[in-house]
Amino acid sequence: MSPDPLAGRRVLVGISGSIAAVKLPLLVSALVQRGASVRCVLTASAARLVSAEALACLSRQPCHLDADQWSPQAARPLHVELAEWAELVLLAPLSATSLGRWVHGLGDTLLASTLLACEAPMLAAAAMNTAMWSSPGVRANWQSLQGWQRVLPIGPSQGLLACDRLGDGRMAEPELLLLALESLALWGWRRDWQGLNLVVSAGPTREALDPARCLTNPSSGRMGVLLAQAARLRGARVELVHGPLQVPAAWLDGLICRAVTTAAELEQALVEAQPRADAIAMAAAVADHRRARPLQQKLSKQELAQELGRGWEPVPDILKGLVDRRPPDQVILGFAAHSGDVLTQALAKWGRKGCDLLFANPIDEPGAGFAAASNRGWLLGPSPGERHELESQSKLALAHRLLSALRQRIRPPADAPPCPPAPAPAPAAADP
Ligand SMILES: Cc1cc2nc3c(=O)[nH]c(=O)nc-3n(C[C@H](O)[C@H](O)[C@H](O)COP(=O)(O)O)c2cc1C
Repeated sequence: MSPDPLAGRRVLVGISGSIAAVKLPLLVSALVQRGASVRCVLTASAARLVSAEALACLSRQPCHLDADQWSPQAARPLHVELAEWAELVLLAPLSATSLGRWVHGLGDTLLASTLLACEAPMLAAAAMNTAMWSSPGVRANWQSLQGWQRVLPIGPSQGLLACDRLGDGRMAEPELLLLALESLALWGWRRDWQGLNLVVSAGPTREALDPARCLTNPSSGRMGVLLAQAARLRGARVELVHGPLQVPAAWLDGLICRAVTTAAELEQALVEAQPRADAIAMAAAVADHRRARPLQQKLSKQELAQELGRGWEPVPDILKGLVDRRPPDQVILGFAAHSGDVLTQALAKWGRKGCDLLFANPIDEPGAGFAAASNRGWLLGPSPGERHELESQSKLALAHRLLSALRQRIRPPADAPPCPPAPAPAPAAADP
C-alpha cells in the first residue's frame, strides 16, 4: 500500500472566529488518524466558539491561545517556534478579521504573528456571512491573497448559513479541505493550469436493460474526480462530465459538473464541451454494449434469461470520436483498465485510439483500479513506444503526475479562447 501523503507531516491548524470552527475538532482528528502531527492555534474569538481542550485532546498536543505568547518560560517566541515547526498550514475557518490582519501585515494576535513569520505552504479557507463576504474591504483582501506565493485560497461555497441566510459564505467542507491539504503536500500551491480549460469524464455509465436492470461497472469515479479537483487547485477551469459517482459530494466543489447516466448522454456532453477544451481526460468507464431499444416493461426472470444475449449493440468508441473531431492543439489523455497483461493490451489500445497519452491500470489486484484509494500503471505516449511505469501511489498523487504530463503538451495558455463563466455551485444544507 502506498503511504498517505499527509502521514508524518507537521500541520499547523489556525482557527479564527467563525462558527465553522465547530467543524475543526473532527478535521483535526482525521488528520491525526492519517498520521499527521498537528498543532492548533486559536484566536480569542475562536476560543469562544470551539473548545481548546477538545482540540488539544484530539491533536495530542497543547492547543495554543493568545495568552501563551507571553511567557517567562519561553526561550524562543512562540509564534516563531510554531512558524518554523510547520510544514503545512491550514487556516480554517479564516474570518474577515484574520484575513484583514494577514493581508495588511498585522501581527497583533498569536495566529497573526505566526502567519507573518511562517514560510510554509498555506491553505486558507474563508467563512463568513454572505454580506460580509461581498463587502468591498473583504473582497479586496481576498483578491490580494490570490496572487500570493505559497498560499492556496479556497473560497466559501453557497449554502444555508448559521445566520439563516442562503448564499456564499459557508466554509468549504472538511472533506475538500483534507483533499486540498493533501494536494498542497504533494504539489504545493503552484497554479500552472491557470487560464486553461480541462474537460474530464469520470465514473461509470449505466445502460438500461429494462426499467429494473442495467449494465454497468464498479467504477467509483474517484480517479477522474481527483484529476478534476487537482487541476482546479492548480488553477484550471474544469468541466466534469460524470456518471453515477461514489465519492464525497464535497470533492465536486469548484468544478462545473454535468451528471449523465448513459454512454449516449456522456458522448453528447463531451461533444458539446470539446470546443472549449485545451485538454480532455477520458477517465470514465464507459459500458461497451447497450440495448438497441431499451425495454419499457420489466422482464420476468424467465424472459430475462431469454433476453440476455440478443438485442444488444456496441457503444460507439467515444474516445476515438473525440480524437477524430479534436481542434488543433487540443491534447487528449485516455484511460484503459485491464486485467491480465495490462501493458500489452494498453499498447494495442493506444495504437488504435490515437490519443496523445494513455494511462493504463490493472483492475485485478488489490490497491489499484476501480474504487481503490491508490493506483498504479503505465503512462504511454506521446511518442510511439514511449512508456513510463507509475508505481503504486494515492490516486491524488497519480492525478498530479498525469496533469503534469498533460500540461507539458499544451500550448501556452495565452492563446486560449474565452470561456463562459462558471455557474454558481449548488446550495448545500446547514451552517457555514
Ligand atoms: C457566533 C459568531 C459567529 C461568527 N462567525 C463569523 C464568521 O463566520 N466569519 C467571520 O469573519 N466572522 C464571524 N464572526 C465575527 C468574528 O468572530 C469577529 O469579527 C472577530 O473579530 C474575529 O476575530 P478573529 O479573526 O481574531 O477570530 C462571528 C461572531 C460570532 C459571535
